Amino acid sequence: MRIDVVSLFPDFIAQCAAFGVTGRAVERGLLWLHGWNPRDYAEGNYRKVDDRPFGGGPGMVMLIDPLRNALQAARQADPAPSRTIYLSPQGRPLTQSRVRELAGEQRLVLLCGRYEGIDERLVAAEVDEEISIGDYVLSGGELAAAVLVDAVTRLQEGALNDAESAQQDSFGDGLLDCPHYTRPVEHELGAVPEVLLSGNHAHIAAWRRMQSLGRTSQRRPDLLDEQALSKADRKLLEQ
Ligand code: ADE
Repeated sequence: MRIDVVSLFPDFIAQCAAFGVTGRAVERGLLWLHGWNPRDYAEGNYRKVDDRPFGGGPGMVMLIDPLRNALQAARQADPAPSRTIYLSPQGRPLTQSRVRELAGEQRLVLLCGRYEGIDERLVAAEVDEEISIGDYVLSGGELAAAVLVDAVTRLQEGALNDAESAQQDSFGDGLLDCPHYTRPVEHELGAVPEVLLSGNHAHIAAWRRMQSLGRTSQRRPDLLDEQALSKADRKLLEQ
């Protein structure tokens, strides 16, 4: 998968992606990440990328042309069709199911804003989709882009060492993940639940499912799709 990022701080995203799963995916040739700085496409001695908002108010708004030229350069760098995503708090909330869909794209172009935002005409003309990573305001789209890069990369075939771990994670099946334990069995902070030491795989699977269901119903009842719950799940939830 190829991801181009248009940002005033392209190195920031490259650094974020240099570690762990994303770093390994780059090494394995599963992720190709390239940054494009709109300042490199701005005109004049000052390479101005922003200006004051019409109508007044605080802050600055990013200019159309440096962003448009950077986007054009990014798209032309590879003939494969790309989807352009603008990271902004006004976007649709990012979910694991949207991540799964985006992970299947050959190419993404991510657009990161700074300051008060981007001239809306550029968004209307050049952006396919606006995505938010949560109901809070960041200082720019870069952290959100790094989140999206991480989430789609770990779903690329061969990115994770244990092929199952993506499926078992939270939201792999629409539920929060169960708790995990490792050595030692006994610790001053508590003991590992006995069922996990039993070697009985059916009991362990049932326990994990119950934990996932319980956590989801307590912490994120909005995620519980009653229709999708099996009879066995309903029984577990009633316990
Ligand atoms: N840029 C600033 N805040 C953001 C958010 N919550 N999600 C995506 N991009 C952003």
